This record gives sequence, structure tokens and C-alpha cells, in this order.
Amino acid sequence: MESSSSVAHSNHRRHSSSNSMTELAAVGAARLMSFPAVFIGTSRHRQAQAHSHEPPAEPEHTRRRVDDSHFTPSMEAAAVKPVLRVAAICGSLRKASFNRGLLRAAAEVCDDSIPGLRVHHLDISDLPIINTDLETDGAFPPAVEAFRAKVSQADCFLFGAPEYNYSIATPLKNALDWASRGKNCWADKPAAIVSAGGGFGGGRSQYHLRQVGVFLDLHFINKPELFVQAFQQPPKFDSDGNLIDDQIRERLKQVLLSLQAFTLRLQKD
Ligand SMILES: Cc1cc2nc3c(=O)[nH]c(=O)nc-3n(C[C@H](O)[C@H](O)[C@H](O)COP(=O)(O)O)c2cc1C
Repeated sequence: MESSSSVAHSNHRRHSSSNSMTELAAVGAARLMSFPAVFIGTSRHRQAQAHSHEPPAEPEHTRRRVDDSHFTPSMEAAAVKPVLRVAAICGSLRKASFNRGLLRAAAEVCDDSIPGLRVHHLDISDLPIINTDLETDGAFPPAVEAFRAKVSQADCFLFGAPEYNYSIATPLKNALDWASRGKNCWADKPAAIVSAGGGFGGGRSQYHLRQVGVFLDLHFINKPELFVQAFQQPPKFDSDGNLIDDQIRERLKQVLLSLQAFTLRLQKD
């Protein structure tokens, strides 16, 4: 996977990151206080990651409220958070893609101010168009095998989801489909979506992606949502697709913090 540092755009760096244990603990305490409890699906069935394409006869997951009230900030601060690997997947292959620009900005935000998250860009441009004739005895073409391995290694996902004709862009759907074949590599992993597009800011693509995620057994954060209306003034991106709007950058940070909190909760089970 391409590391976050290699995709970061230096113009927007504000602070150098630090990985010291003290800072990690302090960030953890501050984060705990800023996030209310949320409703999540449990991940009691991690072994069910290898689920097939047959829908389960019974729902695999119950829903329950996670109660963090027994945690105090000092207890949380004492626990050093792991550094989570976020696989960032962009549905646009365009060089100056706005959605790719959002993912680059996410990598910068994490490098600068979220020590517990590292964003790695997961390239999908060399995946063949899905065709199950390309599978031989359960093996996939090399580019697909490599992609599937990186999906499996990720702790969570951040999708940049452009809207094509009111739905998910083809390259993203193709990637989702390849990693769902055989052993479903997406199963039981948390994810967040951001998008940039026309009037709805890619919202229809986001909601279709959430629907696909039901069968893939992805667990999306519900809030905050981020839809960027890329064509409205003032400009949100420069001509290379880099995010130049500080308010959107701050909202992106809130998405990432929510994804981090949700991922840690799921991994606790
Ligand atoms: C085939 C195609 C269909 C599109 N359909 C929509 C659409 O339904 N809604 C929308 O808001 N934008 C639509 N757009 C415009 C995209 O939102 C716009 O091109 C955006 O910049 C794509 O994301 P990117 O910058 O990451 O490539 C479409 C673009 C293409 C190429």
C-alpha cells in the first residue's frame, strides 16, 4: 500500500506528527470525552469473515448499545491505542480527482493530528473488469490477489465515492466485487465514506455504497456524513484536485475520529 506520507500534499501540513506514548494517551483522553456512545453491530462472529455469497438464513448480528460509562478519561489515557491502518479507496481513476483529493487530505490530517490512524492509499486502477472466467481453481489474477491481500490487512476503510449517474462509480464497484469473491475480504470491518460531486455532493453514491455494504458485511459509521459540493463557489479544490477548504478539512477530521472510535469499539469485542 502506498503510505500516507507518500500521498500527503505538503502545502497543507501544519504540524509534524509525534508518536510519543504520552501524546497518544493524551489524545485518547480528549477523544473519549468528545464522542458520545453510539449504537453499533457487534463483531462476535469474526470467524464468519469467510462467509459465502449465500445470504444467511438468520441475521448474524444482533445490535446492542455499547456503554462506555464505566470508562474514565484517566483509564482511557492509561491504555495506549494501537495505530490503525486505514485503507483509502477512491472510486475515481482521474488524476485530478476531487474524491482522491479528499483521501489525500485525510492522510494529511492523520499524519498531522491523529496519531492513532495511518491512511494508506489502496490503488484500484490496475484491477481488471470483473469476470469470473479469470478465476482459476480459486485463484485470482495477480493484481486482484494483491488487492485482496491489502484489503484483508486493513483495520478499516475510507471510501472516496464519486457519484456516476446517481450511483457508485464503476471502478469502486469493481473493486468491491473482486474482494467479495470466495472469502469475502470486507467482512466485519468498519468503514467511512466521503464524496465530492454535483448538487448532492455524491450523496446517492454514498447511500448505494451503504446498501452494498449490507451484503459485504461492512460496518459504516453513521455520522458525521461528508458530502462536498465540488462545483459550488468558492472553489473547494485546486486544479490538481487538492482540497483547499479548511472547513471541509475540519469536517473530514471529525469523520476520521468517528471512524477511529468505531473501529476501536469493534475490535474490543
Ligand atoms: C459518467 C459520469 C456520471 C456522472 N454522474 C453524476 C451524478 O449522477 N451526480 C453527480 O453529482 N455528478 C455526476 N458526475 C460528475 C462527477 O460528480 C464529477 O465528474 C466528479 O468530479 C467526479 O469525481 P472525481 O473528481 O473524483 O473524478 C458524473 C460524472 C461522470 C464521468
